Amino acid sequence: MSQAMEEGSATNSSSEAVSSEIHGVDLVSKLPTREGWPGPPLVLYKNYWLRPLYVATIMGLQNSGFKPRHDDIILATNPKCGTTWTKALIFAINNRFRYEFGSHPLLFRHPQELVPSIETPRDGNISYIEKLPSPRVLGTHMPPSLFPKSMVSDGFRVVYMCREPKDVFVSLWHFQKEIFKDNTTSLEAVFSMFSEGFSTFGPFWDHCLEYWRESIASPEKVLFLKYEDMISEPVKYVIRLAMFLGVPFSTKEEEDGIPEEVVRLCSFEKLSNLDANQTGEFTLSGNRVLKKSAFFRKGKVGDWVNHMSEEMGRKLDCIVEEKLKGSGLVF
Ligand code: A3P
Repeated sequence: MSQAMEEGSATNSSSEAVSSEIHGVDLVSKLPTREGWPGPPLVLYKNYWLRPLYVATIMGLQNSGFKPRHDDIILATNPKCGTTWTKALIFAINNRFRYEFGSHPLLFRHPQELVPSIETPRDGNISYIEKLPSPRVLGTHMPPSLFPKSMVSDGFRVVYMCREPKDVFVSLWHFQKEIFKDNTTSLEAVFSMFSEGFSTFGPFWDHCLEYWRESIASPEKVLFLKYEDMISEPVKYVIRLAMFLGVPFSTKEEEDGIPEEVVRLCSFEKLSNLDANQTGEFTLSGNRVLKKSAFFRKGKVGDWVNHMSEEMGRKLDCIVEEKLKGSGLVF
């Protein structure tokens, strides 16, 4: 079975194994729902809009006994903020002593397969995560307020990758249409929803703010990164990332250009052109499939201008500015 990966991607059996039922009552069906985005209605769970399958899995995680290890790295993102890229970067940094760049696993396997996600169980349950050797890298779209109780205040570290909201919105719209093979939902139709905070793992700004505040309170525990910064100065941020991960580049490595090698290996140009990422499909819930290439669209900063009017852009900017006011977080 393909490893499940992103938004809307848990495999068929996952919701059966990580159950959201208590005394035979399906708790997900009791929650408010709203339609509008491609695919089934989103469910409101503790202030966040999620796909029903994710709610089931996240509820199930509460009772699963899942416990992070003190040396775990949690890669947290809102969907479409650069999860795939950051998975590749962390994998490349952590494993740089194990593999030659010329025969690296990233050349043959999709980053979403190399770094699993907590809430998209493989083979129907999360027990495989327990079997992974330390130090583990685990992806998640959960904000801290949705973490299972067992995850709170453990020694693990978090890398949070954030992205400019207009580009996130455009990327999300394309991706949702791709997942649900939807050619009819217009960008205009979902724009007002995103602006209201109604999107998968939205409100987008609440998600960012939760991690932003954690990163200010505990910078040694939470590294807050921005996609745009990473694009403009990738080597600088790869060096910073390695430091945070506890595997800093040595002076010799920097002289030898190893950070640059990591950046090259994980670049959009490199990864998006590999056969492993170009061909093949992931299996989604409901027997749907998603092309592996769907995780590589343009990889550009500012693509929103090609899809949204200036007025829409200004409107979303104003909303986001208002929501983030006083926090110190700006885009
Ligand atoms: P676009 O749709 O704007 O092109 P995620 O991995 O969180 O789903 O995010 C997907 C977004 O990251 C997509 O943005 C995708 O093209 C971009 N992306 C994927 N790999 C990348 C890479 N190596 N470098 C930069 N951006 C990348």
